[in-house]
Amino acid sequence: MAKKFFIETFGCQMNVLDSEKIAGNLCCKGMEAVESPSEADVILLNTCSVRDKAVQKVYARLGEIKQYKNVRKNLVIGVVGCMAQLEGEKILKRAPHVSILAGPQKSHVIHSLLEKSVLSGTPKIDMRSDDNPSPLEIVPIRRGNRRRAGVTISEGCNRRCTYCVVPETRGKERIRSSSNILMEIENLAAEGYVEIMLLGQTVNSYMDLKEENVSFAALLRRIAQIKGIERIRFASPYPSDFTDELLEVMVSCTQVCNHIHLPVQSGSTKILRAMRRGYTREEYLEIVRKIKDSERPISISTDIIVGFPGEEERDFEDTLTLLDLVQYDGAFSFKYSPRPNTEALNLDGEVPEEEKSRRLAVLQQHQREIQYRINEAYAGRIVEVLVDARARSRVSLTGRTSNNKIVNFDGPETLIGQFVTVKITDFSPNSLKGAWIQSKALE
Ligand code: 5AD
Repeated sequence: MAKKFFIETFGCQMNVLDSEKIAGNLCCKGMEAVESPSEADVILLNTCSVRDKAVQKVYARLGEIKQYKNVRKNLVIGVVGCMAQLEGEKILKRAPHVSILAGPQKSHVIHSLLEKSVLSGTPKIDMRSDDNPSPLEIVPIRRGNRRRAGVTISEGCNRRCTYCVVPETRGKERIRSSSNILMEIENLAAEGYVEIMLLGQTVNSYMDLKEENVSFAALLRRIAQIKGIERIRFASPYPSDFTDELLEVMVSCTQVCNHIHLPVQSGSTKILRAMRRGYTREEYLEIVRKIKDSERPISISTDIIVGFPGEEERDFEDTLTLLDLVQYDGAFSFKYSPRPNTEALNLDGEVPEEEKSRRLAVLQQHQREIQYRINEAYAGRIVEVLVDARARSRVSLTGRTSNNKIVNFDGPETLIGQFVTVKITDFSPNSLKGAWIQSKALE
């Protein structure tokens, strides 16, 4: 049986965690993770299907990977995750060198699929189904970071946003028991993890009905009591499920980071209705007002789609004015991409591709200017940073503040994984630059 595997991850933070679960499954069975596809006996692409671009990227990558198969005849190539679930056997037709197909939530069976495929010499397929859900409880995880850990609290989505394919790929929402979540986080704390990222498609809709009605806010409060856990993040909350109780926890528990990613998608109530988001522009702005009026400075970031069917110039302008009102610290913005089996396919008012591109460029420039002004105000300030890694430039280190600002600074590699104090000396729309003052241990 093949020994060395390489996983390439596309898409969201949940995919990153799923890849760590797949690696956990394979390592438990005696396989070894390698750093490069050229060394691997097994290459797995863990994929995304949220936009067509993400799907095309994987097909292109499969084309590139084929060369390894020419050199190593026994190489096994697999496609797993959301795109595998959505495209199914179409993938085998377009890329016959693929021999494993598995949907999301199949991390625990990947090794057995590999074994079966190698023994039979035929492709093996295992798709997720709502009737036969996989366990959400503790599974082996081979984590990529020793200080920060993702933790699944729920999976799947019960919302029906008309543009979104995720309910189809990840299925109905399932909730992990709070006692099991807390057990995992206690174990992580004992191993030296300091930052936890709670993950779920609509993470704040969490409610453990089996165990004393533990709400999302109550779960955060319990996690904040675990010794050693200094930072708690979560992704992504759904605006309609944002409660006063959640805000109260974010304000009173300093372990809960003062940043929230609150996807708005559009600033126009007409478009929000067509997207079936379940809130109006005014209702969203009311949540933002509460956050901004709270006693703790909380950064807000968002996701935006431009060019949704029926989006007129004035709807797009509503989105621009919403950016002005909210003053987001960050925004991921995308051109609307029609997805299979979604309701938005039936909507009139398609926006031409060039117009989508124009709106995206205008929006991104507008947001860059907002971020520039927000980050400008950090010059001269002293911030606490959890150091993550060498920066891309390789000459400096990079880390994040509690409110999710990326901070780059020069310092020794021994600081990686530590909390340090940094004085901000320079800024750009996307990051801050500073000088290392001291590590927390020295304070
Ligand atoms: N087209 C464009 N963007 C989309 N997203 C989800 N579905 C689509 C789509 N069909 C975006 C949303 C979501 C983010 C993860 O991806 O902004 O919040």
